Amino acid sequence: MDITYREGEPLDVDQLRRLYEQAPWARGRSTDGIARMLANTDYYFTGWDGPRLVAFARVLTDGIYRATLWDVVVDAAYQGRGVGEGLMGVILSHPVLSRVEKFWLNTRDKQKFYERFGFVSSSQGMVRELGACP
Ligand SMILES: CC(C)(COP(=O)(O)OP(=O)(O)OC[C@H]1O[C@@H](n2cnc3c(N)ncnc32)[C@H](O)[C@@H]1OP(=O)(O)O)[C@@H](O)C(=O)NCCC(=O)NCCS
Repeated sequence: MDITYREGEPLDVDQLRRLYEQAPWARGRSTDGIARMLANTDYYFTGWDGPRLVAFARVLTDGIYRATLWDVVVDAAYQGRGVGEGLMGVILSHPVLSRVEKFWLNTRDKQKFYERFGFVSSSQGMVRELGACP
């Protein structure tokens, strides 16, 4: 499977709205809301199968000390095939984000997935310190 990953390029908001419908915590978001969210997000990342948006994630950060990861979602038809791993690899090797001191995320049930990338569960959510694997 040939998935292309991109950072921050113009995005059809309606495609993202459809992807969000697959995630319980993002279902029902409006196109206006998503457009506003993207405009105020520091970094967002996409995965594409040709013209089809199949993965998305975004990061809020000061670019040096702290970053939080939000809205990681892979199209259900593409899950379990390495797309989420590919997307996380692009995010964590990004020239700015790879040098941020601490990364946070919150998840109810996907801890095992994030542990693969060096995130450790703590009382504050999952945290990844600079220099953690991979
Ligand atoms: C969680 C999610 C992003 C993972 O993406 P994915 O493309 O299915 O994951 P990958 O195929 O890249 O999996 C990479 C590895 O993580 C493992 N993994 C994936 N999801 C997992 C889970 N929920 N629990 C444990 N391990 C998981 C895979 O088994 C795989 O390991 P392997 O290579 O040894 O087989 C995707 O399932 C998804 O979008 N879920 C719905 C939205 C969601 O809940 N997002 C997370 C919000 S915190």
